[in-house]
Amino acid sequence: MLARATKELFYTVAGLVMALNGHIYRTFRAGSAVRKSSVRLHLGPGQKAYLPGWTNIDANMFTSKCDIWLDLRNPLPFPDNSVDAIYSHHMIENLPDIEAYFRDTFRVLKPGGIYRAAGPNGDMAIAKFIENDHDWFGDWPDKYDSIGGRFANFIFCRNEHLTILTESYLTELAQRAGFKHVKRLLPVMETGHTHLFEDCLAHEHERDYDAPHTLVLELEKAI
Ligand SMILES: C[S@@+](CC[C@H](N)C(=O)[O-])C[C@H]1O[C@@H](n2cnc3c(N)ncnc32)[C@H](O)[C@@H]1O
Repeated sequence: MLARATKELFYTVAGLVMALNGHIYRTFRAGSAVRKSSVRLHLGPGQKAYLPGWTNIDANMFTSKCDIWLDLRNPLPFPDNSVDAIYSHHMIENLPDIEAYFRDTFRVLKPGGIYRAAGPNGDMAIAKFIENDHDWFGDWPDKYDSIGGRFANFIFCRNEHLTILTESYLTELAQRAGFKHVKRLLPVMETGHTHLFEDCLAHEHERDYDAPHTLVLELEKAI
């Protein structure tokens, strides 16, 4: 895992090129892409979760597999009301302004479009910390014996994560962005929209179904 400072340097240096790449995509390719077929965006696929048939977008040009190289801190290079579905799994906790990002996902979705957003489950981590459930927390990225160290590991991931994702917080941000229907789901193999997200579920991992490590919300842009 890269140190925070190295990552910030990468985003500073590569940020301008990614912004230019977004501008070029918006100007020359987005229009025909949305006219040709339905568009589903997978934001932050990383190394192993590339989804064929989706437009996979990531900033990591070294190890991720993606179709468009972009910094998701910038607006998505798609027209308003042009995208059918959006999926992200363990990505939004890396963003400095989730509210602005939710506003932008709302902007690009078509009315009736769905955003499935998943990330580290802050509600469950707090409950497990209070229960002193040492074993619920993992050893990654750092090894700690104390419950506090393990809790910090989960929440901040060696300062990779910029926020704590809880259901009420994400629901408030989503509703402020304009989403009317926010549904919380169990983490794996469940969706209210199988026709859109069936192929995403195979990439979701959860070792404790009753006390999920991942919080999943499905946000709908009302018609
Ligand atoms: C923890 S990985 C998750 C990978 C995969 N979705 C999964 O759940 O296994 C987070 C991914 O989000 C991407 N990411 C984080 N911040 C980003 C940003 N500002 N712009 C684009 N991609 C970003 C990272 O490059 C990385 O590939």
